[in-house]
Amino acid sequence: MRALVLDGDAGIDHLAVVERPTLEPAAGQVAVTMEAASLNYRDLATVESPMIKGRLPLVPLSDGCGLVSAIGPGVTRVAVGDRVAPLFFQGWLGGEPTGPALATALAGGIDGVARDQVVLSENGVSKVPAALSDEEAACLPCAALTAWRALVEGGLKPGDVVLAQGTGGVSIFALQFAKAAGATVIITSSSDEKLERARALGADHAINYKTDPEWAKAARKLTGGRGVDHVVEVGGAGTFQQSIQAIRIGGHIAVIGVLSGMVKDLNVAAMFGANARIHGITVGSREQFEAMCRAIEANAIRPVIDRRFPLEDAQSAFRAMKAGEHFGKIVLNF
Ligand SMILES: NC(=O)c1ccc[n+]([C@@H]2O[C@H](COP(=O)([O-])OP(=O)(O)OC[C@H]3O[C@@H](n4cnc5c(N)ncnc54)[C@H](OP(=O)(O)O)[C@@H]3O)[C@@H](O)[C@H]2O)c1
Repeated sequence: MRALVLDGDAGIDHLAVVERPTLEPAAGQVAVTMEAASLNYRDLATVESPMIKGRLPLVPLSDGCGLVSAIGPGVTRVAVGDRVAPLFFQGWLGGEPTGPALATALAGGIDGVARDQVVLSENGVSKVPAALSDEEAACLPCAALTAWRALVEGGLKPGDVVLAQGTGGVSIFALQFAKAAGATVIITSSSDEKLERARALGADHAINYKTDPEWAKAARKLTGGRGVDHVVEVGGAGTFQQSIQAIRIGGHIAVIGVLSGMVKDLNVAAMFGANARIHGITVGSREQFEAMCRAIEANAIRPVIDRRFPLEDAQSAFRAMKAGEHFGKIVLNF
């Protein structure tokens, strides 16, 4: 089978498709023939990290969708022919996250899904919504589940105001889930063209954070001075302080990403002054994935795919993500 492998050193140039032996599922395992995979910013960060060298060779990408092609003895959760997604955390099935569960991320300590076939525990895969294409379902395990958990654990309810930063994978899912829940959405972007696309998807308000660098003030004004109920905080150093300015008293900031670097100086007084619920989020459990899939089905949500590349052209897909020109998701076809 073909496998995309990062080997030798960090960097997009070190990604190559190689041949690897096909595997047979053992007891309790399933073999999945992968049909599509999607990129997350985390994959770019992993491939480019100078720290990755000790873990090479590594098959990248956590998110994909495929067909169960064989099952080992004792498997009951899925059958041959089922369409499934491998779960981001192979060992976080439900309940609160634990250290051991969070150590089971695909394409972290263990090989990811950018290959023709994966063999995983039956507990590490979940069926995907029937209405979605393979490419669309391949967008769910990390980006969608992170956005889902950020909003659901924040206590999202109809009439709330959600602020989503930028128009990447997590933020566009946040927009879609927030609108499905009856919330008002404020979205930010560096591009007016992307803001128009976000409006077409249902965003109520759009702020260009390049031409309006004081976007938190603008967002607050849009709420009549009250502040927003939820921030999907993916920006890190460049956005965190303004997220605290934008949040209403007692609002929820889901701390997810570091697109503009790690936050170094924290205005702790502003944090307690806002009585903000500041909540670190790492993707989610299988239980949460299944709840999210039910919501996707009930609300006919379709993941937004911006561009597609063949597996062999994975380097171009990573370069496209690095350029930041995408709106929503970038997908690899097998
Ligand atoms: N904690 C977790 O479990 C978890 C899970 C998923 C993702 N993440 C993190 O969340 C972040 C987003 O991931 P992703 O996969 O959605 O990324 P992505 O698809 O690559 O999104 C990138 C987009 O973010 C926007 N952006 C960049 N810098 C920004 C800034 N300073 N302010 C506002 N928006 C900015 C840009 O949107 P415009 O082009 O519209 O300006 C850019 O196109 C990453 O840091 C990722 O590592 C964490």
